[in-house]
Amino acid sequence: MIIGVPKEIKNSEYTVAISPSGVSAFVENGHTVLIEEGAGLGSGFYDEEYVARGAIITDKETIYHGSDMIFKVKELLPSEFKYLREGLIIMTYFHSNAYRDETDACLEKKIIGIACEDVQDKNENYPLLRPMSEIGGKGGFIAACNYSQKINGGSGKMLARVTGLKIPHITILGAGSAGLGAAELAAGFGNKVTVLDVDYDALNRAKEKLPLNVEFLHSDYETICEVIQYTDVLMNCVSWPKWRTDHIITRDMLKLMKKDTIIIDVACDIGGAVETCRAMTHNQPVYFEEGILHYCVDNIPSAYSRTATCSICSATVPYALDIANKGVYKALMDDPYLRKGLCFYLGNLTLEETGLKQGRPYISPEEALGI
Ligand SMILES: NC(=O)c1ccc[n+]([C@@H]2O[C@H](COP(=O)([O-])OP(=O)(O)OC[C@H]3O[C@@H](n4cnc5c(N)ncnc54)[C@H](O)[C@@H]3O)[C@@H](O)[C@H]2O)c1
Repeated sequence: MIIGVPKEIKNSEYTVAISPSGVSAFVENGHTVLIEEGAGLGSGFYDEEYVARGAIITDKETIYHGSDMIFKVKELLPSEFKYLREGLIIMTYFHSNAYRDETDACLEKKIIGIACEDVQDKNENYPLLRPMSEIGGKGGFIAACNYSQKINGGSGKMLARVTGLKIPHITILGAGSAGLGAAELAAGFGNKVTVLDVDYDALNRAKEKLPLNVEFLHSDYETICEVIQYTDVLMNCVSWPKWRTDHIITRDMLKLMKKDTIIIDVACDIGGAVETCRAMTHNQPVYFEEGILHYCVDNIPSAYSRTATCSICSATVPYALDIANKGVYKALMDDPYLRKGLCFYLGNLTLEETGLKQGRPYISPEEALGI
């Protein structure tokens, strides 16, 4: 199979789908890898390193027109829609529910789309989302450290245990991969950390991994209202269902917080769990609502592009390789967990969440594949 890796064009996006060692995995299995010139530079990988592993460096047009499968990271942007064609396999983090125009283009052009974020494993976890979430959670805490600095407009409070001083308090909503990543760093700096979740098992799993300066609370309105009054940093790491119109942190609740509290919305769902969330970019990541600093960036891992690229690549390449080795139809037939990620199949929408969010007809991946 010919696998094409384009350069990402999203604002401030520096990751790329494949590292040089990822290229080797395909080449050793007899596949051809086309990489757009300079695609890896944002992650510190030079064209020559890819060529040394057997890749061919070329331009975006050749990548899209000459490949059987496009292997990338971010959603498709309008300038990429013209390259789509019937039967082209695209494996990427589509997030199709958020982008109606992308969904229109993929359905109209009848591509076969595998959404990395929806691929599951046998425990119903999201193995291709997890690495990004961990980096997102950790990167979110590092952003809190940056924006608490006076020189960056913050309160000047160091988010660490400092001899003779009160220990800062970090509150984390959600004990999933992002929440755990954030808690690990925040606790490692000696802060008092509170992790809240509605799922007792998730709290229990987190408790086994985190040190004693982390407490675990059930997430409910009363508890959250109490905790946010003494919180220095509130981190939202809850994946909020797209159909929900309520919020965990409402605008009114911001009035309970200290004026120098920082909100880091890692989940970054506009009008989601944090009512006052707006999607920002790395160029302009923060804004104030009700006097509270908000940091909301939906591609935090891009700031850590080298780490993110290596992490994404090691998680996604085995699935992409399976598709390349078996062909997309057999790979999907053989693996019910890969099938969970099938979002577009030759003109059919096969992702329920996007169907419900965008009010479109959808069918199951099984129906689309004739199983
Ligand atoms: N901004 C970024 O760059 C970036 C990067 C990676 C991930 N993310 C996003 O971060 C979010 C979290 O990802 P994840 O992989 O950790 O998700 P996850 O599903 O592993 O964890 C979410 C946790 O939230 C808990 N939860 C649900 N409702 C809750 C509530 N009312 N109160 C407290 N906890 C609640 C769930 O039980 C679960 O344990 C996702 O929306 C993901 O898309 C953002």
